[in-house]
Amino acid sequence: MTLHDSSFEQQHSAMGQIALLGGAPAVRTPFPCWPVFDQREVEATRAIAASGIWDASHPVVAELENQFAQFHQSSYGLAVTNGSQSLEIILRGMGIGPGDEVIVPAFTFVISATAVLMVRATPIIVDICPDTFTLDPAAVKAAITPRTKAIMPVHIAGVTGTIDEIVQMATEHQLHVIEDCAHAHGSQRQGKSAGSFGVASSFSFQGGKVITAGEGGMITTSDQALYQNCLQQRDGENLQSELIGSNYRMTAFQAAVVQVQFERFQQQRAQKLANIARLDAGLGQIEGIKPQLRHPEEEAPGYLYMFYYDAQAFNGLPRYLFVKALEAEGIPCGEAGYPPLYKTPLFQNRNFGPGGQVMTHDWGGQPFPDYQAMQLPHVERVVRDVVILPHANLLATAQQIEGVVTAITKIQEQARRWPQWGNTITFSAATFSRKVLSKLRPHGSTS
Ligand SMILES: Cc1ncc(COP(=O)(O)O)c(C=O)c1O
Repeated sequence: MTLHDSSFEQQHSAMGQIALLGGAPAVRTPFPCWPVFDQREVEATRAIAASGIWDASHPVVAELENQFAQFHQSSYGLAVTNGSQSLEIILRGMGIGPGDEVIVPAFTFVISATAVLMVRATPIIVDICPDTFTLDPAAVKAAITPRTKAIMPVHIAGVTGTIDEIVQMATEHQLHVIEDCAHAHGSQRQGKSAGSFGVASSFSFQGGKVITAGEGGMITTSDQALYQNCLQQRDGENLQSELIGSNYRMTAFQAAVVQVQFERFQQQRAQKLANIARLDAGLGQIEGIKPQLRHPEEEAPGYLYMFYYDAQAFNGLPRYLFVKALEAEGIPCGEAGYPPLYKTPLFQNRNFGPGGQVMTHDWGGQPFPDYQAMQLPHVERVVRDVVILPHANLLATAQQIEGVVTAITKIQEQARRWPQWGNTITFSAATFSRKVLSKLRPHGSTS
């Protein structure tokens, strides 16, 4: 029996052959590319250039700060260089430093933890919930010590997950909650906005984010004293300032582009939420596929769409080949983005000192946690088994989204009918990348 034996194919492909093996792709129209932009971004940039005021003194920066803070139910917004330094500014603004501990989730971008190290405090890495992929309250509770000063939930893929439990625990232990909202623009839970649960929050406008100016960040808070501290740090060359700071300002060009993107995002929000609901309903029906859990009253039009892939339900087809097969069906996707935080070389080797010097003890004189010995089961499983769809997919038509469900159903059906399917697809995968790459639309085209 060969791969292209037509009688075999007819007999074994009720939904048609998978695209990776030469069948027609489930989705034939390309998904939107990111960033989405049009003449408005071009015009906003031109207007700043023409104004002659290119720095943060242009009124657009303060205007954006107010609009963004208001939308996220906070009193103050502070536009900054990016969503990494925003975390550092918040931590320093709270007086967190040597000898202090900040609890962070093991499943996040490494910056959530390096921001803590940058202020010379110690990140305490804990496991996540296996269903929401956000901080596990039990793990947080177990990690609290007299040195703990703050908890940093990361709303992964925009999902606020266990935030209520985390806030409650922080209140009981008199700890600060700093929300890393780099994925959570526009997320709401029971009408309450991401960024308004903790004492301060950090957003990112980096190139891949749902609102972008290439780079940029925003701090939101309703704590006036903290806002003032953060402001002084951002404008560190202010000779009246009593706090050490630097220059962390956003340019007027960035603010103008973010403002347009923010406006468009508010229009895109409903479409994204509708497509997430379609995916949850459709994928939830497929054996072996389990979407990230969202609270029933959670609106998270966020950064990624994530789901577990159980290879057992696909006749042992490994995840990386599932991803290739899905891509061949016309659907941009990937394997779960981050390694467990403690498995990154930085943490494995504890190169936290000047020039990457290995540190055995933190700046408070305590031994660093043994990151090499860490093995947290939930994050390990997510990293091993989860598949992601980028957020631009959520701007697709309902028909394209239905195509995602059809494609996965087709892959499963084929996988189950063909005992050696896994081996066959392995050979085809090598030629796949070239084929798909050549089909990609040029980056930057609008849609
Ligand atoms: C969870 C998380 N936190 C922080 C950041 C840092 O943001 P930025 O790239 O704007 O510095 C990112 C960026 O990807 C992120 O995903």
